[in-house]
Amino acid sequence: MPPARPEFSPLPRHVAVIMDGNGRWAESKGLPRYKGHEAGARTVREITEECARLGVQRLTLYAFSAENWKRPKREIDFLMKLLKRYLAGEQPTLMKNGIRFAAIGRLHELSADVLGEIEKTKAMTRENPKMTMVLALNYGGRGEIVDAARAFAGDALRRGKVPEVTEEDFAKYLYDPAGAEVDLLIRTGGDHRVSNFLLWEISYSELWFTRAFWPDFGIPQLHEALSDFAKRERRFGGLPER
Ligand code: IPE
Ligand code: IPE
Ligand code: MG
Repeated sequence: MPPARPEFSPLPRHVAVIMDGNGRWAESKGLPRYKGHEAGARTVREITEECARLGVQRLTLYAFSAENWKRPKREIDFLMKLLKRYLAGEQPTLMKNGIRFAAIGRLHELSADVLGEIEKTKAMTRENPKMTMVLALNYGGRGEIVDAARAFAGDALRRGKVPEVTEEDFAKYLYDPAGAEVDLLIRTGGDHRVSNFLLWEISYSELWFTRAFWPDFGIPQLHEALSDFAKRERRFGGLPER
C-alpha cells in the first residue's frame, strides 16, 4: 500500500459519503435529473479509486435511502437500472484496484435482478485486499438499529437468556460490524443533515459539508476534505495531549 501523502496524514480509516445533489446538478444545466445520476455514477468510480489509492480502508457510500422510495416510480426505476449497470460495469475496475465490494441496507427488499448483481460482485471481489467499498442501498440508520436489536433478541431467545451487553457486543449485530466507526462523514449538495445515514456509526465522526453537487465532487474536493481532516484534533471527550 503506498504511504498516504503527508498532507493527508492521519488518513481517515473509514470514510462515509452522503452523495447528494445529482438532481440539482442536472437541473442547473437544463438536463433531466437522470443525467445527474449518470454523472454521479462516474464520480463514484473516481472517488472510490482515489480513496483506494491513498490507503483509505473502508468507503461507505449512501446510494439509495429507505426514504427514497417516496420518489416518482420513473426515477426509482432508473436508479435501480443504473445500479445494475454500474455494478456490472465496475467489476473489472474493482478487481484491478483490489477493492472488495459489500452492501448494507434491507437488501432483501430489492428486486431479484439487482440483488443478483450485488451477490455476484460481492463473490467476485471477496478476496480483494486493498479497500472495502460499501454501498448503502435501501438503507436507513434507524432501521439498521432496529434490525440489529431484532437479531440480538433472536439470539438471546435461542440461548434462553438475555446476556450482558456492551456497545461492542451490540455493534456486532450491525449490517457491517467492521464499519462500526466512521472517521470522516462527507455530505455534498449543500444541506447540513444526516438524512438517516449511519446513525450508530457516526457518533464520533468528523463532519465535512460542501456545497458542491456530487457530480462536481472530484479528486481536488476529496483532497480538501482529507487535508482538513488531517488537521483536526479528535478528543473523543478527553483532553488534548500536551
Ligand atoms: C442524490 O442526489 C442521489 C440519490 C438520493 C439517489 P439527489 O437525487 O438527491 O439530488 P438532489 O438532492 O435532488 O439534487
Ligand atoms: C440522501 O439524499 C440519500 C442519498 C444520498 C442516497 P436525499 O436527497 O434523499 O436526502 P434529503 O431528502 O435531502 O434529506
Ligand atoms: Mg437529494
